[in-house]
Amino acid sequence: MNVVMMGPPGAGKGTQAGLLAERFGLVHLAPGDLLRQAVKEDTALGRRAKEYMDAGRLVPDDLIIELIGSRLREAVAHRAPGVVLDGFPRTLRQAEALTGLLEKAGGLDAVLNLCLPEDEAVARLTGRRVCRKCGANYHLVYKPPDSPDTCDRCGGPLYQRSDDTEATARARLEVYRRETEPLVTYYAEKGLLRDVDGRGSVGEVTERLASALGLDG
Ligand code: AP5
Repeated sequence: MNVVMMGPPGAGKGTQAGLLAERFGLVHLAPGDLLRQAVKEDTALGRRAKEYMDAGRLVPDDLIIELIGSRLREAVAHRAPGVVLDGFPRTLRQAEALTGLLEKAGGLDAVLNLCLPEDEAVARLTGRRVCRKCGANYHLVYKPPDSPDTCDRCGGPLYQRSDDTEATARARLEVYRRETEPLVTYYAEKGLLRDVDGRGSVGEVTERLASALGLDG
C-alpha cells in the first residue's frame, strides 16, 4: 500500500505518518526530515536546502525528486510492503514525477489530506520542540516533555526548529496555499483523495486516517 500524507504545515503529517508506518509496516519517507539531516551533516544538499527552508520556501523540485526517487528505489529493491510519503509531493511537477516513481511499486493507493484551521496549525508549529539526538517530537502544551528542554525518550536536548517562528510558519502556510493546495483538486480528480479532519487528539486523528484507508477495526 502506497499512501501520500498531505496537509498544511503543522497539520500533524509527521506525527501521523510515523504512527501509520509503525502500525501497518510501511516505510515512512519525509523529505523535510531528510533535508534537516543533510543540513545537520553539512552536505552539499544540506547547504543548498538550508536557505530555502529557513525562509519557509520550497526547495527546488529537481533536488527533491532526486532525493525521494533514490529512497523509493531502495524501498522497492528491499521489497517494502509500501510507503507513506509525508510532505511529498508538494508541487504538480513532484506529483507527476511520483506517478513514474511508483510505477514498479503498484502505484498510489490513496492521498490522505489532513485538514486543520490555520490558527491551530500556527499554534502547533510555534509550540513544537524536537529532540536534537533522536528526532522525537513534543509540543509545549499538547505533548509536553516530563522535564523542559530534555527528551523523555533518550535524554537529548530539545530545540525549536528555525522555521517554527510565527513569521516563518505563516510564510510556509502561504506557500502551501499557493503551491501545494492545487494538488487537492489534482488528486480528487483521480479519485484518490480522502479528506480527514486533523482536529482532536493524536489518537482520534489516527483512527480517522485508518478508517479513511478502510483499515479500521
Ligand atoms: P516539513 O518538515 O515537511 O514541514 P511541514 O510540511 O511544514 O510540516 P511540519 O513538519 O511542520 O508539520 P507536520 O504536518 O508534519 O506536523 P507534526 O506532526 O510535526 O518541511 C520543512 C521544509 O522542508 C519546507 O518548508 C521546505 O523548505 C522543505 N521541503 C520539505 N518537503 C519538500 C518538498 N516536497 N518540496 C520542496 N521542499 C520541501 O506536528 C506539529 C506539532 O503539533 C508537533 O509539536 C506535534 O507534537 C503537534 N501535534 C501533532 N498532532 C497533534 C494533535 N492531534 N493535537 C495536538 N498537537 C498535535
